[in-house]
Amino acid sequence: MRYGHFDDKKREYVITRPDTPLPWINYLGCEAYFGIVSNTAGGYSFYRDARLRRLTRYRYNNAPFDFGGRYIYLRDNGDGKFWSPSWQPTRQKVDDYSCRHGMGYTIIGSTSNRIKAETLYFVPLGENLEIWQLSVTNLRRKSVRLSVFSSVEFCLWDAQDDATNFQRNFSTGQVEVDQGVIYHKTEYRERRDHFAFFACSEKLAGYDSQRDVFLGAYRGCDNPTAVERGRSFNSIAHGWAPIGSHHVKLKLKSGETRRVIFLLGYHENLKDQKFDPPTSQTINKRTVKPTIAKYLKQAAVDHAFEELRQYWDRLLGRYQTKTPDEHTNRMVNVWNAYQCMATFNMSRSASFFESGIGRGLGFRDSNQDLLGFVHMVPERARERVLDLAATQLETGGAYHQYQPLTKRGNDDVGSNFNDDPLWLILSVAAYLRETGDWSILDEQVTYNNKPGSETPLYEHLERSLHYTLDRLGPHGLPLIGRADWNDCLNLNCFSDTPGQSFQTTTNKDGKVAESVFIGGMFVLAARELAEIAARRSLHSDAEAYRKAAERMDETVRTKGWDGEWFLRAYDDFGRKVGSKECEEGKIFIEPQGFCVLAGIGLQDGLARKALDSVSKMLATRHGIVLQQPAYSKYYLHLGEISSYPPGYKENAGIFCHNNPWIIIAEAMMGNGDRAFDYYLRINPSAREKISQLHRCEPFVYAQMIAGKDAPTHGEAKNSWLTGTAAWNYVAITQFILGIRPTYEGLMIAPAIPSKWKGFSVSRVFQGVRYNINVRRAGKRNRVRLKVDGHALDGNLIPKPAAGVTQVAVEAVLE
Ligand code: BGC
Ligand code: NOJ
Repeated sequence: MRYGHFDDKKREYVITRPDTPLPWINYLGCEAYFGIVSNTAGGYSFYRDARLRRLTRYRYNNAPFDFGGRYIYLRDNGDGKFWSPSWQPTRQKVDDYSCRHGMGYTIIGSTSNRIKAETLYFVPLGENLEIWQLSVTNLRRKSVRLSVFSSVEFCLWDAQDDATNFQRNFSTGQVEVDQGVIYHKTEYRERRDHFAFFACSEKLAGYDSQRDVFLGAYRGCDNPTAVERGRSFNSIAHGWAPIGSHHVKLKLKSGETRRVIFLLGYHENLKDQKFDPPTSQTINKRTVKPTIAKYLKQAAVDHAFEELRQYWDRLLGRYQTKTPDEHTNRMVNVWNAYQCMATFNMSRSASFFESGIGRGLGFRDSNQDLLGFVHMVPERARERVLDLAATQLETGGAYHQYQPLTKRGNDDVGSNFNDDPLWLILSVAAYLRETGDWSILDEQVTYNNKPGSETPLYEHLERSLHYTLDRLGPHGLPLIGRADWNDCLNLNCFSDTPGQSFQTTTNKDGKVAESVFIGGMFVLAARELAEIAARRSLHSDAEAYRKAAERMDETVRTKGWDGEWFLRAYDDFGRKVGSKECEEGKIFIEPQGFCVLAGIGLQDGLARKALDSVSKMLATRHGIVLQQPAYSKYYLHLGEISSYPPGYKENAGIFCHNNPWIIIAEAMMGNGDRAFDYYLRINPSAREKISQLHRCEPFVYAQMIAGKDAPTHGEAKNSWLTGTAAWNYVAITQFILGIRPTYEGLMIAPAIPSKWKGFSVSRVFQGVRYNINVRRAGKRNRVRLKVDGHALDGNLIPKPAAGVTQVAVEAVLE
């Protein structure tokens, strides 16, 4: 069953009933001001950091599930009936409901009582504000008098404090209302120099800024007193819960449409120019008023919306494909790329499953997110690489997370996830391949943000490798530390106290537990760094890293091999994890994917064996599960992985993030059929027809789909913010379609299904547009190339002469 459909032309997903199984959301903003918005206008906004600078309040895990948002109420002043065109929060019956989630905007509308209303929400490029543009049309034969009420609930900035510290917060709230604009200025009188504003294009009939006055005693957002009676109270918030609500009266003739613009935004003043007059406590609004005035005009809104459309045309235009499969086309051309932007911006911080409070930007996560984003805005990728590296510790280790606002490592979560530093090498290599900007390696970058500690970025990469080499265990494999990629395989944790965080609680020193996964990752990272060193003519470095990679490759193949697949780890007692000797958790997906990806076992058949074992033991029709058999009970020496009921999350769920590692591995082995089959099993668009089971948005990847041991096998959770986006993008664009940036030029190495007759790709690479046509002539994936009409040996297109901006490529698969 579906709850809507794709509009591929407009690059929208159109939801046609409001009661989706879960809130189906979209992101507003792509630079500094962000919002999340559900299909019923739920969600919240923040500036840079979802925890430290939250503009509006949202109540997670509420009933109804989605609660708090950008709500608009309409009221027929003739009969007093009122409703919300976005269905929530009044949940009155509405006709012709639709929510169109598009690239950086959402349009929600419906018809009720023969009044059609539709709101467009978006953030103009380069601005710290969001626009709500409401259009109301009178479909009746007679004219109508309507009231429009807007409503947002302000968050007192720090979302964590806002949700917990009521003894203080019920006394601190402050607003100003000036010329119809509601300014939220809690704590502005003391150490903050920022405030929020909420403005409206029309003359106001009234306003409210105190929640309890607007709603009335014992009432919820579904029937505010002000809306019910059709008149605001002009309340001014002192403490308690500041809100913003405008009241506008409209008279519409039959057939007439009116537009009303609301602006919600964030503004900072210089510290010594906060007040106007300077001796007062009144906000200096002179700095923000021009911006407000600008966007309250229709022409500016239309222009900003058009700019946003062009911006996405440009970004998405960098990689467009036409294949025989519509799910591939729409994910690659639109939604997967779009999701990569969201994960790049948010890491794992703010979604409807990530509260914006708990997690900042993950070191490991952000480095991986970059893989799917770097071709779109390389300059931002560059800045991110340098920010991440600046939080690295002098030991080469890494903070597991950092705060986007301060760009500092997060002490609460700390360090010692032993895979973390290696991801930096992979992201830098991807950046170099995509851009050819070798200067980044010479950038002077601090450790732990400490002035004076700077070294070139290249040395950061070296220290990342040495971090692993300095921490080898009894078998010569890397020690796991707190955990590796699998945050829940906590081999040094031994937690027996309820409520303890598996991620942060004091661990054993951990001189025994080793990770085969990190072993595989090390081989890949060391090979990457060797190549980088060689290209910079640092030949002895290159030689040393190549040797280190070979040694680890050998160790993995001997000490990390179980007979039919790669082992997962050795535990604190030196016993095998992920082995046929284990009762549960005999085989794990991660080392099978990553070891093959690193090139381990390609020659001696181990890689093929490992991947066949995955197919036999882990693949299901909904995707590949993380391990088997699921842990049926809690194991003290394994940690959080065994805390999840069988089939969920890391305990044998389909963890979509690592499915593409297998897809890439299969593609590398030339097995296009199997690679594509796996790809489609978790492709959100391909799962649209089972939306009732899948439950999450059919246009973006979710972190997890319940595995075969779960009672809800096939049900997705934790949509949007997951490394799945970047890795699937890499898997399909670079490995199945096989259009791969390399240091020498663009490589054409497809591993497509044998049934496909061909496909085409248009891809911008280092300023040149490649128009690539691939045609199947034989059964295999061997490539014969013609570039601008000339036959070429091999599958690599060298960089064209300066000045050339278009290259035509004909590839024949034989
Ligand atoms: C989740 C992991 C996550 C970790 C970090 C765990 O509960 O299962 O997927 O990485 O928390 O917070
Ligand atoms: C989610 C985390 O964000 C990611 O870093 C981790 O690798 C996976 N969970 C697996 O545990």
